[in-house]
Amino acid sequence: MKNIFAFIGSHHREHSATHRFVQMIIDSILKKDASIVSNVYSAGEIRMNFCRGCWACSLTGSCPHDSTDDMGMLNEKLRDADVVILGSPVYEMNVSGQMKTFLDRHLTWFHRFTLAGKTGIAVMTSGGPVTAITAPDDTLKYLAALMLSMGIKLVEPCYLFAETRGTGKTTEFTDRVKAQNDARKVADALYPYLSGSAAVESDSNLEQIFREVKAKLKPGSNLSHDREYWDKQGMFTLNSFAELLRKLQA
Ligand SMILES: Cc1cc2nc3c(=O)[nH]c(=O)nc-3n(C[C@H](O)[C@H](O)[C@H](O)COP(=O)(O)O)c2cc1C
Repeated sequence: MKNIFAFIGSHHREHSATHRFVQMIIDSILKKDASIVSNVYSAGEIRMNFCRGCWACSLTGSCPHDSTDDMGMLNEKLRDADVVILGSPVYEMNVSGQMKTFLDRHLTWFHRFTLAGKTGIAVMTSGGPVTAITAPDDTLKYLAALMLSMGIKLVEPCYLFAETRGTGKTTEFTDRVKAQNDARKVADALYPYLSGSAAVESDSNLEQIFREVKAKLKPGSNLSHDREYWDKQGMFTLNSFAELLRKLQA
């Protein structure tokens, strides 16, 4: 059964504008096929410790926190998903601290393309339009770039943004109709990957990241454990991300 994983970096649970925005996408998809499963997690309802920078994930392949908080469970759902949606409010011109912690907890996934074969989108809301002081544009690009680095193929236009107004739980969309229309377009772009009418293919962004990570893991770099992983998986023999996808699909 096809399924969608979403993580929302806001504490406001279902009251969060970001959560509601992501839910609009999911509801549009479920209207097309109610059998698709969605697992939506909000930072407000899970236990998630900070990354302590111990490198255990890189050295041993797993994070010691995964068994003491909810990340182990979340990661299982994430690995199992066909579509991945990461949503965050803009906090101080960047993703929220909760989203940053979520990303930090996946350190090795960014060097190993752990989520290759999945598709997805980055979603963001902010209390202002795209300007130098609100920064949603840069923040969206940042979140989208990290998703690509985990191997996720992003559907066009890579990310979705809505402006909100108000404070706390009363935050509302500045233009709710636009938000709904935008969410519907993203649902239309994601659905073919869930219905099976489209297969995940490589693109220029994924190819560039593949080349850069492969070059970064050269002997002598401080990422020896990631290099060992690449070696073991036979990834150094691959010339492109497209070849990695073919290997995974074989
Ligand atoms: C700590 C904090 C920092 C914020 N920083 C920004 C910011 O730099 N730029 C901006 O446009 N909005 C900022 N906002 C507004 C939120 O991005 C906006 O209200 C968002 O839609 C809230 O999403 P949520 O309801 O999903 O939590 C900030 C809000 C908080 C609480």
